[in-house]
Amino acid sequence: MSDAPSTNPPGAPNPAGSPAAESADPPLYQPPSSPTPTPPSAPAPTVEAVNTAPVSTAVAGFSARIGETLDPTPHSPEPAGDLTAAGEKRHNLRIFAVANQKGGVGKTTTTVNLGSCFAELGLRTLIIDLDPQANASTGLGINPRSIESSMYDVLLHDTPLEDCIEATAVKNLFCAPASLDLAGAEIELVPAFNRERRLKAAIEAVSEDYDYVLIDCPPSLGLLTVNGLTAATEVLVPIQCEYYALEGLGQLLRNVDLVKKNLNPTLDLSTIVLVMFDARTKLASQVAKEVRDHFGPVVCRQVIPRSVRLSEAPSFGQPINVFDPTSRGALAYRDLAKEVSGVDG
Ligand SMILES: Nc1ncnc2c1ncn2[C@@H]1O[C@H](COP(=O)(O)OP(=O)(O)OP(=O)(O)O)[C@@H](O)[C@H]1O
Ligand SMILES: [Mg+2]
Repeated sequence: MSDAPSTNPPGAPNPAGSPAAESADPPLYQPPSSPTPTPPSAPAPTVEAVNTAPVSTAVAGFSARIGETLDPTPHSPEPAGDLTAAGEKRHNLRIFAVANQKGGVGKTTTTVNLGSCFAELGLRTLIIDLDPQANASTGLGINPRSIESSMYDVLLHDTPLEDCIEATAVKNLFCAPASLDLAGAEIELVPAFNRERRLKAAIEAVSEDYDYVLIDCPPSLGLLTVNGLTAATEVLVPIQCEYYALEGLGQLLRNVDLVKKNLNPTLDLSTIVLVMFDARTKLASQVAKEVRDHFGPVVCRQVIPRSVRLSEAPSFGQPINVFDPTSRGALAYRDLAKEVSGVDG
Protein backbone atom coordinates (compact mmCIF):
# COMPACT_ATOMS: atom_id res chain seq x y z
CA MET A 1 0.00 0.00 0.00
CA SER A 2 1.29 3.44 -0.76
CA ASP A 3 1.97 6.20 1.69
CA ALA A 4 0.11 9.43 1.78
CA PRO A 5 1.16 12.66 3.43
CA SER A 6 0.41 12.51 7.11
CA THR A 7 -1.76 14.96 8.92
CA ASN A 8 -1.19 13.26 12.25
CA PRO A 9 -1.14 15.23 15.44
CA PRO A 10 2.37 15.53 16.76
CA GLY A 11 2.66 12.56 19.08
CA ALA A 12 1.72 11.77 22.60
CA PRO A 13 2.08 14.46 25.24
CA ASN A 14 5.02 14.39 27.55
CA PRO A 15 4.49 12.78 30.90
CA ALA A 16 4.94 15.01 33.90
CA GLY A 17 8.47 16.33 34.09
CA SER A 18 10.72 14.03 35.97
CA PRO A 19 12.24 15.28 39.17
CA ALA A 20 15.90 15.99 39.30
CA ALA A 21 17.83 13.60 41.46
CA GLU A 22 18.15 14.97 44.99
CA SER A 23 21.54 14.20 46.35
CA ALA A 24 25.07 15.43 46.50
CA ASP A 25 25.61 14.18 42.95
CA PRO A 26 25.91 16.83 40.27
CA PRO A 27 22.44 17.53 38.92
CA LEU A 28 21.98 15.97 35.50
CA TYR A 29 19.12 18.24 34.67
CA GLN A 30 19.88 21.89 34.00
CA PRO A 31 17.25 24.42 33.02
CA PRO A 32 17.39 25.12 29.29
CA SER A 33 19.78 27.91 28.45
CA SER A 34 18.74 28.38 24.84
CA PRO A 35 18.29 32.09 24.12
CA THR A 36 15.13 31.31 22.17
CA PRO A 37 13.20 28.80 24.25
CA THR A 38 10.08 27.33 22.75
CA PRO A 39 6.99 28.09 24.80
CA PRO A 40 5.47 24.72 25.70
CA SER A 41 2.09 25.81 24.49
CA ALA A 42 3.34 27.06 21.12
CA PRO A 43 1.20 25.47 18.42
CA ALA A 44 3.05 23.40 15.85
CA PRO A 45 3.11 25.35 12.61
CA THR A 46 1.09 23.99 9.75
CA VAL A 47 2.79 22.82 6.59
CA GLU A 48 1.63 26.03 4.91
CA ALA A 49 2.98 28.12 7.73
CA VAL A 50 6.24 26.25 7.63
CA ASN A 51 6.52 26.78 3.91
CA THR A 52 6.07 30.50 4.27
CA ALA A 53 8.00 30.89 7.53
CA PRO A 54 11.41 32.43 7.27
CA VAL A 55 13.43 29.26 7.02
CA SER A 56 16.56 31.07 8.03
CA THR A 57 14.92 32.04 11.33
CA ALA A 58 14.18 28.43 12.12
CA VAL A 59 17.63 27.09 11.49
CA ALA A 60 20.04 29.99 11.32
CA GLY A 61 22.47 30.15 14.16
CA PHE A 62 21.81 26.54 15.07
CA SER A 63 25.48 25.85 15.54
CA ALA A 64 25.82 28.88 17.76
CA ARG A 65 22.82 27.86 19.83
CA ILE A 66 23.91 24.27 20.20
CA GLY A 67 27.41 25.45 20.92
CA GLU A 68 28.90 21.97 20.98
CA THR A 69 30.70 19.96 18.40
CA LEU A 70 31.13 16.26 18.08
CA ASP A 71 34.16 14.29 17.15
CA PRO A 72 33.81 14.33 13.36
CA THR A 73 35.37 10.89 13.00
CA PRO A 74 33.00 8.86 10.81
CA HIS A 75 31.42 6.05 12.67
CA SER A 76 32.39 2.76 11.12
CA PRO A 77 29.95 0.08 12.17
CA GLU A 78 31.42 -3.25 13.10
CA PRO A 79 29.07 -6.05 12.24
CA ALA A 80 28.33 -8.28 15.19
CA GLY A 81 30.03 -11.63 15.06
CA ASP A 82 33.34 -10.55 13.44
CA LEU A 83 36.28 -12.87 13.88
CA THR A 84 39.17 -11.82 16.08
CA ALA A 85 42.79 -12.08 14.94
CA ALA A 86 42.88 -15.42 16.72
CA GLY A 87 39.94 -16.59 14.61
CA GLU A 88 37.49 -16.63 17.52
CA LYS A 89 34.03 -15.21 17.23
CA ARG A 90 33.96 -11.74 18.76
CA HIS A 91 30.77 -10.59 20.36
CA ASN A 92 30.23 -6.90 19.67
CA LEU A 93 27.16 -6.02 21.66
CA ARG A 94 25.99 -2.56 20.67
CA ILE A 95 23.63 -0.89 23.09
CA PHE A 96 21.84 2.20 21.79
CA ALA A 97 20.02 4.64 24.02
CA VAL A 98 17.43 6.21 21.73
CA ALA A 99 17.05 9.59 23.36
CA ASN A 100 15.72 13.07 22.82
CA GLN A 101 13.97 14.85 25.64
CA LYS A 102 11.56 16.40 23.16
CA GLY A 103 8.30 14.50 23.02
CA GLY A 104 6.87 12.97 19.88
CA VAL A 105 10.01 13.19 17.74
CA GLY A 106 10.10 9.54 16.64
CA LYS A 107 12.12 7.82 19.37
CA THR A 108 9.73 4.90 19.76
CA THR A 109 8.99 4.60 16.04
CA THR A 110 12.71 4.43 15.36
CA THR A 111 13.42 2.01 18.21
CA VAL A 112 10.71 -0.44 17.15
CA ASN A 113 11.28 -0.32 13.41
CA LEU A 114 15.06 -0.13 13.40
CA GLY A 115 15.11 -2.96 15.94
CA SER A 116 12.79 -5.06 13.83
CA CYS A 117 14.90 -4.43 10.73
CA PHE A 118 18.06 -5.43 12.65
CA ALA A 119 16.24 -8.65 13.55
CA GLU A 120 15.30 -9.17 9.91
CA LEU A 121 19.03 -9.00 9.10
CA GLY A 122 19.53 -11.93 11.45
CA LEU A 123 20.83 -9.86 14.37
CA ARG A 124 19.42 -10.85 17.73
CA THR A 125 17.87 -7.68 19.03
CA LEU A 126 16.42 -6.69 22.37
CA ILE A 127 14.21 -3.63 22.71
CA ILE A 128 14.08 -2.27 26.24
CA ASP A 129 11.06 -0.08 26.88
CA LEU A 130 12.10 2.49 29.44
CA ASP A 131 9.12 4.78 28.92
CA PRO A 132 6.09 4.52 31.24
CA GLN A 133 3.92 5.28 28.18
CA ALA A 134 4.89 1.74 27.08
CA ASN A 135 4.54 2.67 23.40
CA ALA A 136 7.36 0.40 22.26
CA SER A 137 5.78 -2.55 24.09
CA THR A 138 2.31 -2.01 22.59
CA GLY A 139 3.86 -1.26 19.20
CA LEU A 140 5.33 -4.76 19.34
CA GLY A 141 2.01 -6.34 20.25
CA ILE A 142 2.63 -6.67 23.99
CA ASN A 143 -0.13 -5.62 26.36
CA PRO A 144 1.55 -3.98 29.37
CA ARG A 145 -1.45 -4.95 31.53
CA SER A 146 -1.08 -8.64 30.93
CA ILE A 147 2.61 -9.13 31.65
CA GLU A 148 3.99 -10.67 34.81
CA SER A 149 7.02 -8.47 35.23
CA SER A 150 8.28 -5.35 33.53
CA MET A 151 11.22 -2.97 33.50
CA TYR A 152 9.81 -1.52 36.71
CA ASP A 153 10.55 -4.81 38.49
CA VAL A 154 13.98 -5.01 36.90
CA LEU A 155 14.94 -1.50 38.02
CA LEU A 156 13.27 -1.45 41.43
CA HIS A 157 12.98 -5.06 42.59
CA ASP A 158 16.13 -6.60 41.13
CA THR A 159 14.09 -8.96 38.95
CA PRO A 160 16.51 -10.46 36.40
CA LEU A 161 16.06 -8.83 32.99
CA GLU A 162 15.81 -12.29 31.48
CA ASP A 163 12.61 -12.91 33.45
CA CYS A 164 10.73 -10.00 31.91
CA ILE A 165 11.81 -10.45 28.28
CA GLU A 166 9.04 -11.40 25.88
CA ALA A 167 9.43 -12.86 22.41
CA THR A 168 7.71 -10.91 19.62
CA ALA A 169 6.12 -12.02 16.36
CA VAL A 170 9.39 -11.16 14.61
CA LYS A 171 12.14 -13.78 14.65
CA ASN A 172 15.25 -12.56 16.54
CA LEU A 173 13.33 -9.65 18.09
CA PHE A 174 12.64 -9.52 21.83
CA CYS A 175 11.19 -6.91 24.13
CA ALA A 176 11.59 -6.05 27.78
CA PRO A 177 8.29 -4.24 28.27
CA ALA A 178 7.40 -1.20 30.33
CA SER A 179 4.40 -0.93 32.56
CA LEU A 180 2.54 2.09 33.80
CA ASP A 181 4.14 1.90 37.27
CA LEU A 182 7.45 2.76 35.64
CA ALA A 183 6.31 6.38 36.00
CA GLY A 184 6.91 6.01 39.73
CA ALA A 185 10.41 4.74 39.14
CA GLU A 186 11.72 8.26 38.51
CA ILE A 187 11.00 9.04 42.16
CA GLU A 188 11.46 5.59 43.67
CA LEU A 189 14.93 5.32 42.16
CA VAL A 190 16.16 8.49 43.88
CA PRO A 191 17.18 6.83 47.18
CA ALA A 192 18.10 3.49 45.54
CA PHE A 193 21.61 2.10 45.73
CA ASN A 194 23.49 2.47 42.45
CA ARG A 195 20.43 4.17 41.04
CA GLU A 196 22.04 5.33 37.76
CA ARG A 197 23.63 1.95 36.99
CA ARG A 198 20.77 -0.44 37.61
CA LEU A 199 19.91 -0.92 33.96
CA LYS A 200 23.56 -1.38 33.05
CA ALA A 201 23.89 -4.17 35.61
CA ALA A 202 20.70 -5.81 34.35
CA ILE A 203 21.85 -5.80 30.73
CA GLU A 204 25.25 -7.23 31.60
CA ALA A 205 23.55 -10.43 32.71
CA VAL A 206 22.04 -11.01 29.23
CA SER A 207 24.77 -9.47 27.11
CA GLU A 208 25.82 -12.77 25.54
CA ASP A 209 22.33 -13.38 24.18
CA TYR A 210 22.03 -10.36 21.89
CA ASP A 211 23.82 -8.49 19.13
CA TYR A 212 21.86 -5.26 19.55
CA VAL A 213 20.01 -3.65 22.43
CA LEU A 214 17.86 -0.59 21.76
CA ILE A 215 16.64 1.38 24.77
CA ASP A 216 13.55 3.50 24.16
CA CYS A 217 14.00 6.42 26.56
CA PRO A 218 11.17 8.62 27.82
CA PRO A 219 10.91 12.26 26.72
CA SER A 220 12.69 13.64 29.77
CA LEU A 221 16.17 13.78 31.19
CA GLY A 222 15.36 12.13 34.52
CA LEU A 223 16.75 9.00 36.14
CA LEU A 224 15.21 6.61 33.60
CA THR A 225 17.00 8.32 30.72
CA VAL A 226 20.17 8.57 32.82
CA ASN A 227 19.95 4.79 33.35
CA GLY A 228 19.57 4.36 29.59
CA LEU A 229 22.57 6.57 28.84
CA THR A 230 24.67 4.88 31.50
CA ALA A 231 23.89 1.39 30.18
CA ALA A 232 24.44 2.31 26.53
CA THR A 233 27.53 2.12 24.39
CA GLU A 234 26.04 4.61 21.92
CA VAL A 235 23.39 7.29 21.75
CA LEU A 236 21.00 7.48 18.82
CA VAL A 237 19.13 10.78 18.51
CA PRO A 238 16.17 11.02 16.16
CA ILE A 239 15.67 14.56 14.91
CA GLN A 240 12.42 15.62 13.33
CA CYS A 241 12.96 17.65 10.18
CA GLU A 242 10.59 20.34 11.38
CA TYR A 243 10.30 23.72 12.97
CA TYR A 244 11.48 23.78 16.61
CA ALA A 245 13.05 20.34 16.21
CA LEU A 246 16.47 21.68 17.08
CA GLU A 247 15.46 23.44 20.25
CA GLY A 248 16.60 21.63 23.34
CA LEU A 249 19.22 19.62 21.50
CA GLY A 250 22.00 21.52 23.25
CA GLN A 251 20.53 20.43 26.58
CA LEU A 252 20.54 16.79 25.47
CA LEU A 253 24.16 17.07 24.35
CA ARG A 254 25.17 18.62 27.68
CA ASN A 255 23.46 15.78 29.52
CA VAL A 256 25.16 13.17 27.37
CA ASP A 257 28.41 14.93 28.24
CA LEU A 258 27.60 14.89 31.96
CA VAL A 259 26.85 11.17 31.83
CA LYS A 260 30.12 10.62 29.95
CA LYS A 261 32.10 12.54 32.55
CA ASN A 262 30.46 11.01 35.60
CA LEU A 263 29.04 7.61 34.72
CA ASN A 264 29.92 6.22 31.30
CA PRO A 265 33.17 7.56 29.82
CA THR A 266 32.98 5.54 26.61
CA LEU A 267 29.46 6.61 25.67
CA ASP A 268 29.48 7.67 22.02
CA LEU A 269 26.89 9.91 20.40
CA SER A 270 27.34 7.93 17.23
CA THR A 271 24.08 8.17 15.37
CA ILE A 272 21.67 10.94 14.43
CA VAL A 273 18.66 9.95 12.35
CA LEU A 274 16.62 12.53 10.48
CA VAL A 275 12.99 11.48 10.73
CA MET A 276 9.57 12.60 9.53
CA PHE A 277 11.25 14.06 6.47
CA ASP A 278 8.71 15.63 4.17
CA ALA A 279 10.38 16.17 0.81
CA ARG A 280 7.64 18.64 -0.20
CA THR A 281 8.72 21.24 2.33
CA LYS A 282 11.73 23.50 1.94
CA LEU A 283 12.12 23.55 5.70
CA ALA A 284 12.75 19.80 5.93
CA SER A 285 15.71 20.07 3.55
CA GLN A 286 17.00 23.16 5.34
CA VAL A 287 16.85 21.46 8.73
CA ALA A 288 18.51 18.34 7.31
CA LYS A 289 21.31 20.40 5.77
CA GLU A 290 21.86 22.38 8.95
CA VAL A 291 22.04 19.21 11.06
CA ARG A 292 24.47 17.60 8.60
CA ASP A 293 26.65 20.72 8.47
CA HIS A 294 26.81 20.83 12.25
CA PHE A 295 27.10 17.17 13.20
CA GLY A 296 28.86 15.79 10.15
CA PRO A 297 29.21 12.06 9.57
CA VAL A 298 27.29 10.89 12.63
CA VAL A 299 24.13 11.90 10.74
CA CYS A 300 22.91 8.85 8.86
CA ARG A 301 22.69 9.14 5.09
CA GLN A 302 19.32 7.40 5.17
CA VAL A 303 16.46 9.68 6.21
CA ILE A 304 13.08 8.43 7.37
CA PRO A 305 10.16 9.91 5.39
CA ARG A 306 6.95 11.13 6.92
CA SER A 307 4.56 8.28 6.22
CA VAL A 308 1.05 7.47 7.32
CA ARG A 309 1.82 3.75 7.30
CA LEU A 310 4.51 4.29 9.94
CA SER A 311 1.99 5.99 12.19
CA GLU A 312 -0.63 3.28 11.62
CA ALA A 313 1.56 0.26 12.32
CA PRO A 314 1.67 0.60 16.16
CA SER A 315 -2.11 0.32 16.47
CA PHE A 316 -1.79 -3.14 14.90
CA GLY A 317 1.02 -4.04 17.29
CA GLN A 318 3.39 -4.58 14.39
CA PRO A 319 6.65 -3.06 13.22
CA ILE A 320 6.53 -1.57 9.75
CA ASN A 321 8.50 -4.37 8.06
CA VAL A 322 5.72 -6.75 9.11
CA PHE A 323 2.75 -4.38 8.79
CA ASP A 324 3.58 -3.12 5.29
CA PRO A 325 6.90 -4.57 4.13
CA THR A 326 7.00 -2.70 0.83
CA SER A 327 5.99 0.73 2.12
CA ARG A 328 8.39 3.67 1.95
CA GLY A 329 8.77 3.60 5.71
CA ALA A 330 9.71 -0.08 5.72
CA LEU A 331 12.26 0.42 2.95
CA ALA A 332 13.77 3.40 4.76
CA TYR A 333 14.13 1.63 8.12
CA ARG A 334 15.53 -1.43 6.35
CA ASP A 335 18.21 0.68 4.66
CA LEU A 336 18.88 2.47 7.94
CA ALA A 337 19.41 -0.88 9.68
CA LYS A 338 21.95 -1.86 7.01
CA GLU A 339 23.72 1.49 7.26
CA VAL A 340 23.93 1.45 11.07
CA SER A 341 24.88 -2.22 11.39
CA GLY A 342 27.11 -2.48 8.35
CA VAL A 343 25.35 -5.77 7.60
CA ASP A 344 24.13 -6.06 4.01
CA GLY A 345 21.09 -8.24 4.12
N1 LIG B 1 8.16 8.93 9.96
C1 LIG B 1 6.96 9.13 10.48
N2 LIG B 1 5.91 9.43 9.68
C2 LIG B 1 4.68 9.66 10.20
N3 LIG B 1 4.38 9.59 11.49
C3 LIG B 1 5.39 9.30 12.34
C4 LIG B 1 6.72 9.04 11.89
N4 LIG B 1 7.49 8.77 12.97
C5 LIG B 1 6.69 8.86 14.02
N5 LIG B 1 5.43 9.17 13.67
C6 LIG B 1 4.28 9.37 14.53
O1 LIG B 1 4.56 10.51 15.35
C7 LIG B 1 4.11 10.29 16.67
C8 LIG B 1 5.28 10.38 17.64
O2 LIG B 1 6.21 9.35 17.33
P1 LIG B 1 6.90 8.50 18.46
O3 LIG B 1 5.89 7.97 19.42
O4 LIG B 1 7.81 7.54 17.80
O5 LIG B 1 7.73 9.66 19.17
P2 LIG B 1 8.46 9.61 20.57
O6 LIG B 1 9.64 10.52 20.45
O7 LIG B 1 8.73 8.22 20.98
O8 LIG B 1 7.35 10.23 21.51
P3 LIG B 1 7.43 10.33 23.12
O9 LIG B 1 8.41 11.43 23.37
O10 LIG B 1 6.03 10.68 23.52
O11 LIG B 1 7.90 9.02 23.62
C9 LIG B 1 3.44 8.92 16.68
O12 LIG B 1 2.06 9.11 16.47
C10 LIG B 1 4.07 8.22 15.49
O13 LIG B 1 3.22 7.23 14.92
MG1 LIG C 1 8.21 7.24 22.76
